[in-house]
Amino acid sequence: MKFLVTAGPTREAIDPVRFLSNRSSGKMGYALAAAALEAGHEVALISGPVCIAPPPGADLTRVTTADEMAHAVQTRINTGCDVFIMCAAVADFKPREVRAAKIKKSEGLARIDLVPTRDILATVALPRDRRVLIVGFAAESESLAENARAKLRAKRCDLLCANDITRMDTGFDADHNELTLFFRDGSQRHLPRATKAELARLIVEICIAIAEKR
Ligand code: CTP
Repeated sequence: MKFLVTAGPTREAIDPVRFLSNRSSGKMGYALAAAALEAGHEVALISGPVCIAPPPGADLTRVTTADEMAHAVQTRINTGCDVFIMCAAVADFKPREVRAAKIKKSEGLARIDLVPTRDILATVALPRDRRVLIVGFAAESESLAENARAKLRAKRCDLLCANDITRMDTGFDADHNELTLFFRDGSQRHLPRATKAELARLIVEICIAIAEKR
């Protein structure tokens, strides 16, 4: 099968030296790409700026901004994919304008006007002739199940992997994670704390099982 995995944060420029971003390390997405490769699948990996090495064998596209990631994802979906895992932590907002010259400290910067970025998962155009299994991730700090179920529906996912980001020992930048999976049929499955590599293997297995049943 052909997997498309996104990973890492995006960066939204304020001026030539400053940007808005988030704490994503890319570890979960890279682990998913590695797990799919290990299971013998083809993997296209679209990655924001991260400090880790890509798994050997992945067809890597590096991007910086949410707009670049949206374009790269659409191009890959158009060329054909069976499982699309949107694990990247896309910046939700970008500056309304990017300043061409560095903002001088003496000039001051009392506020930055922000506009939303495109929601890639919710708006990517899906092919009519091929069913793509869609997997989203969610970072939640409260009402995890309620918010995850709402995202699953709003973003047309078959599976949504939700992360409780209030836990310090799991999630952002950690080597471990703990996830609750919410499925389109209303069922859910808790994946207890494990390494991101172990969780990735389970998620890939689950994706393949669903994709093969359809
Ligand atoms: N996502 C996306 N494009 C965006 C923002 C998010 O494709 N511009 C994707 C993420 O990759 C993830 C899912 O949407 O798979 C949920 O992301 P999350 O940050 O949890 O939710 P948001 O939609 O950003 O909502 P909120 O910040 O209100 O929780």
